[in-house]
Amino acid sequence: MEVLQAAVLGLSIFLLAQWGYAAPSRMQFYMHDNFNLSPRTVLRVAGSANSTAAFGAVMVIDDLLTEGPSPASQPVGRAQGTYMISALDGSSLLLTFTAVFSRGSENGSTISFHGADRFLLAEREIAVIGGTGKFRMARGFAVLNTTSNTNRATIVGFDVTLQV
Ligand SMILES: *[C@@H]1O[C@H](CO)[C@@H](O)[C@H](O)[C@H]1NC(C)=O
Ligand SMILES: *[C@@H]1O[C@H](CO)[C@@H](O)[C@H](O)[C@H]1NC(C)=O
Ligand SMILES: *[C@@H]1O[C@H](CO)[C@@H](O)[C@H](O)[C@H]1NC(C)=O
Repeated sequence: MEVLQAAVLGLSIFLLAQWGYAAPSRMQFYMHDNFNLSPRTVLRVAGSANSTAAFGAVMVIDDLLTEGPSPASQPVGRAQGTYMISALDGSSLLLTFTAVFSRGSENGSTISFHGADRFLLAEREIAVIGGTGKFRMARGFAVLNTTSNTNRATIVGFDVTLQV
């Protein structure tokens, strides 16, 4: 009986491997949202005339992504897309962007992120909704973590879990 169970388990693992099932992988990077630093990477294109923090404000971004929290650390790619303040009280934004990778074997591959970034929380989660190149068929999620926030720039850590 135990031999049979072991044989069935072995066969199942073999078939999953044949079908291309891979264990989830992890990836970390940091996003540099510069609204007053040079080069500026955030542009407010609509919404409140007063503030980037008010409901309805729409921003377009082309933020640098790096391996570490320092903007001087190794570049990974760019976060290109938008976010808009989507909570009436200003406490959350809809973050929708494509991470366009530039390093090594990921050069030119992308991952699409989408979700509610309740940025006042220490940690929040958004979805991975797809990918291209090396990340075709990607699904997963990212845990976000603001590591630095001044009136000139915000740095957000991404801890991404991916099923490709
Ligand atoms: C901008 O701020 C002023 C003063 O706080 C306020 O009276 C006005 O309604 C605000 N305008 C917008 C579009 O939020
Ligand atoms: C990435 O690919 C582009 C062409 O698509 C090339 O110009 C660039 O040098 C490559 N970067 C790296 C780091 O390989
Ligand atoms: C968030 O940042 C803190 C301190 O910088 C760190 O201890 C924690 O592991 C980070 N969490 C994630 C999900 O990156």
